[in-house]
Formats: sequence, structure tokens, C-alpha cells
Amino acid sequence: MSGTEERPAARTTTAGAVTVRVPAKVNVQLAVGGARPDGFHDLANVFLAVSLYDEVTATPAAELTVTCEGPDADKVPLDRTNLAARAAELLAARHGLSPDVHLHIAKDIPVAGGMAGGSADGAGALLACDALWGLNSSRAELLDICAELGSDVPFSLVGGAALGVGRGERLTELPVSGAFHWVFAVADGGLSTPAVYGEFDRLNDGVDVPEPVASPALLEALRTGDATALAATLTNDLQPAAVSLRPSLSATLEAGTAAGALAALVSGSGPTTAFLVKDAEAAEAVAAALTASGTCRTARAATSPAPGATVLP
Ligand code: C5P
Repeated sequence: MSGTEERPAARTTTAGAVTVRVPAKVNVQLAVGGARPDGFHDLANVFLAVSLYDEVTATPAAELTVTCEGPDADKVPLDRTNLAARAAELLAARHGLSPDVHLHIAKDIPVAGGMAGGSADGAGALLACDALWGLNSSRAELLDICAELGSDVPFSLVGGAALGVGRGERLTELPVSGAFHWVFAVADGGLSTPAVYGEFDRLNDGVDVPEPVASPALLEALRTGDATALAATLTNDLQPAAVSLRPSLSATLEAGTAAGALAALVSGSGPTTAFLVKDAEAAEAVAAALTASGTCRTARAATSPAPGATVLP
């Protein structure tokens, strides 16, 4: 759909600025198959959105620019490699528009932490530009652009809980009951996702890696909101690779377990580690113990599921 008639209307909304809030994610199951000919890996990837958020604000500008604020803002690229910038370019190109927009990212999701912070900014910018330019793209059109931006970007748009297959970009939404409580231990520095997949390949050299399949017990634990059952079924096939590249993560995982977490695992490709806990009180205790342990930079409590990318009023 051409947005030419709708563009002026969108520019008048909220003084010409649109802000979108987007959640981080944790992978409660990350089953990884062998490397494909295109270099990607087939996944059975069970995503759960968590209540740590980035906000992306799109404002009309003379040209495409990106700025970022937050504790790790200096680690965020502000050029066209930023997924937020790429999202604006892709959306504009599809509609024959020039991506003349300023994108400001208020960053709270750990950078290069395995929590899809970059993907969140891509999905956020896409939704913000779509609203700013009055394009009213369908959900299917947005998801298509998200998949082009990266394997985790469609989930950042959708939020909640979902099973991702293929590269992780083909989603089926999953039912979840109640709220799960988490603590995330943020490490010093990031890990490169391609490097972690490369280490996965190196560790599995000569191994017949099985087809990735979602765990029925894990899906049932999500559906019934049973944290103890979920704790027993959490798995991340990238964890040995992430720990191999960052051996200090073992001490963080042990510190959280010793503090009473129901389960501990590396979040996605890491190096953030995720601790499932019983309730908000346990989250406070585990976060304090992790911080005191000196095995991480900071510990953050969060809950899931969280809504996907949302335009703020
Ligand atoms: O899709 P995305 O750009 O996020 O992927 C980053 C990198 O992670 C890829 O270039 C690839 O090395 C690795 N990857 C993979 N298999 C996937 C998803 C990502 O090997 N399913």
C-alpha cells in the first residue's frame, strides 16, 4: 500500500514523534541443529519476552540519523549497521520513500548480551517509522521485514512466548499462564553471536547433531505457568559454546544456583546469564547474592511474558 495520502496525518500525531517500547527475550529452549549450507543453523527456539525494555523514538529529520542513551550507549553502533537504521531503510525502500528520520534509542537491554537488544531496536524502529509515516503495514508485511533484518527480530515485534523454527524467524505463538520471575546477570562486555555459533560448530565437529525439536514438557510448563516444571526443562545448546568462549560464566551460573535459583542458564548466545526463581521475593534475594558474588557486572530482576513492540501513547 502506498502511504502518500496517509503521511501528513501521521506527521501530526504526538507532535511528530512516535515512541515504541520493545522487550528483551530469554530463550527457555534453544535447540540447535547442524550448520546449514547457508551458514545458519536450524533451530527449535522457544522465546519468552521479559520485562526489560528499550524505547525507540522516531522523529522526522533531514536525513537518517541514530542516537542512543543509556549506561552502555557507547557500545551501540550509530551507523547503518544498527538494526534500527536498517529497519527504517528497508521500510522506506519498500514504499519508495526516503528514510529521513531521526531514531533515538533509550537503551536498557544489555548490549551484545544474548537478550536480543539489537533486534528489539530493529523491531521498534520499524513499528515507529511505520506509524510516523502513516503506512499502516499489515502484521505480515512487518514480520517479513523483521525476518530480513535478523533471526530474532520477528519475535521482538510479537513478544509474549513463541516457538521459532528455521533460523528462528518462523514463529508460532505459544500460550503462557501466570508470570515467571527471573534474574539476569549482566556480564562485562558482550559476545558475538556468529562467534558463539562458530564455537558450537567447533565443539560439535564430527558429531551427528540431531534435528532440533521443541520439548513437549517445556511447552506444557509454559502453558500451565509451572515454574518448577519449567526449571526442569530449560536447555540451551549454545551454552557450552558460550562458556567455552567465556569460562567465567560458570562461576556466575554457580553463584545464582547457590543463592536459591530454581535453574540457571546462559541467555541465548550470552554472555548474560538467566536465573529462574520462584517469586519476586526470591528474585530480590538472588539478584543481591549475584551482585555480592562479584561474578557479574550487575543483576536485574524481570518477569515474563512481556508484550511485544508497542507504540506508546
Ligand atoms: O540472523 P542474525 O543476523 O541475528 O544472525 C547472526 C549470526 O548468528 C548469523 O550470521 C549466524 O552466524 C548466526 N546464526 C546461526 N543460525 C541461526 C541464527 C543465527 O548460525 N539460526
